[in-house]
Amino acid sequence: MNLPNISPRQPLPTDLGEAMEFIRNVPFFSDIEANELTKIVRVGVRKKYKKGSIILLEEETGAALFVIISGKVKIVRTDDDGREVILSILGENDFFGEMSILDGLARSASVVAITKAELFMIHRRDFLKLMQDVPSVAISLLKELTMRLRKADSQIKSLSLKDAAGRVANVILQLADDIGTIRKGRVEIDELPLQQDLANMAGTSRETISRVVHMFIKKSHLELRGNKLIINDYEKFKSLFI
Ligand code: CMP
Repeated sequence: MNLPNISPRQPLPTDLGEAMEFIRNVPFFSDIEANELTKIVRVGVRKKYKKGSIILLEEETGAALFVIISGKVKIVRTDDDGREVILSILGENDFFGEMSILDGLARSASVVAITKAELFMIHRRDFLKLMQDVPSVAISLLKELTMRLRKADSQIKSLSLKDAAGRVANVILQLADDIGTIRKGRVEIDELPLQQDLANMAGTSRETISRVVHMFIKKSHLELRGNKLIINDYEKFKSLFI
């Protein structure tokens, strides 16, 4: 991927203030001083994607890291028959593309926009320098990677040791963490992924997803309103299945 080589002495873009505001709110840039933030804004590029666009392809060489300004993306892996499994859904302020930047290997997964999305792209070289210059960026990155490893561990446990209800509950809890909004103990998940996607994530069939979700609804753990799924008591639901 070729990025414009913007020298720090070039005039700032007119929307610098807006870009600075966004960057300041991204957790892993939050401890950076204003002059360092200006450098990031100058070397980064804002890019817009339509819903459904493929942003990164599994196995391609990686040259940049992306921070999500707005919208949602899914991280997917695909098999030779074209079947895919969603590993995670990321939203505003999340980042992706760091793995191939760090280890120099190919992209570990594909990334697809599930809503229209605006991203902030930072070239590998600039991001590596930023990590060296500003240790808090590296620490924030490690924290996020640790959280992703914890989630992956929980997915492995769920897929290997739990029954169908436990696996479906785990996927619902993962979606709640990734894209849910919590209010007074209730979590709402807008735009629930397709049943087939949920089935692939839970290592089960569409029929099982439907059966288990309806069983949870009957027990008042969940409510389904159109494409919105509501967990009535998030902490209770979690304590039953984690
Ligand atoms: P990279 O391998 O460069 O490109 C694909 C990106 O998807 C990867 O970096 C991570 O940013 C992201 N990714 C891969 N696996 C996961 C996961 N399990 N959870 C969240 N993000 C992931």
